[in-house]
Amino acid sequence: MAENLQKPRGTKDILPDEQKYWQYVSQVVFDKCESFGCGKITTPMFEFAEVFTKSLGSSSDIVTKEMFEVRRAINPSLIEEGSETDKKTMVLRPEFTAAIVRSYIENGMKIWPQPVKLYYEGSCFRYERPQSGRYRQFNQFGVEVFGDIDPLIDASIIYLGYQILKKLGLAQNITIDINSVGCSTCRPKMRKKLTDYFEKFLPTLCTDCNKRFIENPLRILDCKEEKCQKVVEGAPQLVDMLCTECKTHFKSVLENLDIMQIPYNLNSKLVRGLDYYTKTVFEFYDSNDTARQSTLLGGGRYDNLIKMFGGSDTPAVGFGAGIERLVEKMKELEVEVPEGGRAEVSIIQIGDKARKKCLPLLNELEELGIKVTCIMGKDSLKSQLRMASRMKSKVSVIIGQREVLDNSAIVRDMIDGVQETVKMDKLIGILKGKLDKI
Ligand code: HAM
Repeated sequence: MAENLQKPRGTKDILPDEQKYWQYVSQVVFDKCESFGCGKITTPMFEFAEVFTKSLGSSSDIVTKEMFEVRRAINPSLIEEGSETDKKTMVLRPEFTAAIVRSYIENGMKIWPQPVKLYYEGSCFRYERPQSGRYRQFNQFGVEVFGDIDPLIDASIIYLGYQILKKLGLAQNITIDINSVGCSTCRPKMRKKLTDYFEKFLPTLCTDCNKRFIENPLRILDCKEEKCQKVVEGAPQLVDMLCTECKTHFKSVLENLDIMQIPYNLNSKLVRGLDYYTKTVFEFYDSNDTARQSTLLGGGRYDNLIKMFGGSDTPAVGFGAGIERLVEKMKELEVEVPEGGRAEVSIIQIGDKARKKCLPLLNELEELGIKVTCIMGKDSLKSQLRMASRMKSKVSVIIGQREVLDNSAIVRDMIDGVQETVKMDKLIGILKGKLDKI
């Protein structure tokens, strides 16, 4: 197939067989987040670039090389028309948090009862180098809580993430790393101590870390390059440089996690790749992913971001999780998920007269709340039965020439293959009885 007619690099088609996992993730996210007291928020897929350049950090990978710009389609008449004011750059959202902060301020959520708890689900776009579990278009769900500084909220957010992954059948395989990156009071001390330490290793560090040394030396701690990791091993620990308030906050988050019996691992190198974080940061991994290559869920506090966007001083904490990575894990672990939308009953018909009888019956069963489908091909009985079994229907109702004349139908149990002929006026009662029993 011609290259330009294939899907773009780093994207993925989600085919019918995989949809049940996606449906299940959405259902679990809905159930858990709603009962946590969150309301769902949906924001545009594209925003002014400034929403992200202002918040994620000018040295972050996302801002420096990963954003997709959105333009009007190139059309000669529009090019002539284009004025400077028309040209303000917009980008496909690379993440949700900054967009939700924009929405919090723009919609005056500060006068809503606090804390404001929101959850979301949708696509994000990052121009990354595609590899296993890393896409250019991927989907996240996440939660953001605004207006509460209590460390109990940090722990509850981690608890909620853990409960969602547990319900998805993944809890056994999850390791949670946690750290504190401090606040604007501890940052100058952290920067000083880290630059003092890293300065002597600059020739050994990678090019990116040499840039990070100037822009944000904390991010060197997060570098995945082997030569940088060796240097990082001896670096001063962030927890030892926290101010008293951040230290007390972090201690209380950990105590709350202990009370909630959430297993965690203190990782003094964890800083996350985005600049807006303050205090608590955390990441969930597959326990076998010892190199920490593929985060399943990540988040933390960002107490300064709303103020930075021009809103009032409002603390905030949240997380985002990558759905592709979770679905891949669920498939790998063969997690069983309910086949929600599947028809319990398949109606099979042979001949034109039988076909005419099917539609009223389909209607009647649907009205009764029975999940039903009509196999509409002109195929043989055998191939229609095969289709019903592929759809995992529990019962098939077969109507052929003879059944039309007798005003009857054949009811076939698709599990044991036993079938019986029943009169049409008894059909519904018999079907209900069978479905209740199965
Ligand atoms: P993040 O760590 O950049 O954080 O992304 C969150 C999750 O999205 C990751 O843990 C990963 O599962 C998934 N993810 C990220 N990039 C990709 C990719 N290229 N392909 C597939 N999956 C990916 C954030 O986005 C923050 N907004 C999270 C947050 C919310 N912090 C506070 N509130």
